Amino acid sequence: MDTNCMTVSRFIIERQREVPGATGEFTILLSSLLTSFKSISSAVNRAGIHQIYGLAGDTNITGDDQKKLDVLSNETMINMLGASYTVCGMVSEENKNVIRVPPANEKQGKYIVCFDPLDGSSNIECLASIGSIFGILKKPDPSKDFKEADVFQPGDNFVAAGYTLYGSATMLVLALKDAGVHGFMYDPTIGEFVLTDPDMKIQPKGKIYSTNEGNYKYLSTGVQKYIDSKKFPETGEPYAARYIGSMVADLHRTIKYGGIFMYPKNTKAPNGKLRLLYECNPMAFVAEQAGGAASEGSGRILAIKPKSIHERAPIFIGSKEDVAEIEDFIKKFDS
Ligand code: AHG
Ligand code: MN
Ligand code: MN
Repeated sequence: MDTNCMTVSRFIIERQREVPGATGEFTILLSSLLTSFKSISSAVNRAGIHQIYGLAGDTNITGDDQKKLDVLSNETMINMLGASYTVCGMVSEENKNVIRVPPANEKQGKYIVCFDPLDGSSNIECLASIGSIFGILKKPDPSKDFKEADVFQPGDNFVAAGYTLYGSATMLVLALKDAGVHGFMYDPTIGEFVLTDPDMKIQPKGKIYSTNEGNYKYLSTGVQKYIDSKKFPETGEPYAARYIGSMVADLHRTIKYGGIFMYPKNTKAPNGKLRLLYECNPMAFVAEQAGGAASEGSGRILAIKPKSIHERAPIFIGSKEDVAEIEDFIKKFDS
């Protein structure tokens, strides 16, 4: 038993003392996120026993079937964040429009949160890892009322972003603007996220590629040739292939072990599958803050100025040299 453990709240309070003019609002926002993640983690663990597997009977705006756990996770995040008096608006995978909060909260809140409440929901019933993804922006003009267009900011504007992985353990990975990426393992016996992975870094080059290779025939020539080169290298050993089908789990492995995760565009999905605001951007922010890279094929994900809240983007993310290599293939064969 660690009598002096570094919980995520303690970690943030300590950091906050170093920021001149900090008001404590970010700490409150984070605490409402933590409550959501504990609650979702508990629901994920108990879902089989309490029969909350299966479909909710609806589809979301991008056409995915909503699972009961998607809906429950979404409602939890909206309720916790919306009542925190730190948030003026939200974007969720599960809501067609920008989510508004009650007027008094909206007036006081200076943060905008974009989230995928449950990522990898096709893995729920087989008990493979799933997760939640979030990115935190500031209202661009604090003196003005919140308007829906305020959510259209590039990922470069995040003050923080991250994910919680519900895997063999539950883990929060939190990237703070210019202050590193830190991993906190959830200890259910004390109900706290405890710092276990300070200052996480992605190695410059890995030995793993991760993609849904069933889409091979729909991919561009450049991406096909890149995959071929990983399997049949001219020199050295082939890369290992790993793909879970939960972005959070695939990305967490990529950060820990190195390599590349990609969801390219293909002839069936001309902009790829993953959504910019609440999947690609937060993960790109984590990757860059950890010393890695995230590209849409020819430029940084985080530089894209979003035009609609559910827009998609192709993504190539992970070790810097691996991402640079696929950009070279795309440049050579696809442009
Ligand atoms: P979600 O469960 O939030 O809809 O996201 C699923 C995503 C992502 O987690 C994963 O990387 C990708 O879908 C897998 O897609 P394929 O099944 O096409 O490989
Ligand atoms: Mn998702
Ligand atoms: Mn989801």
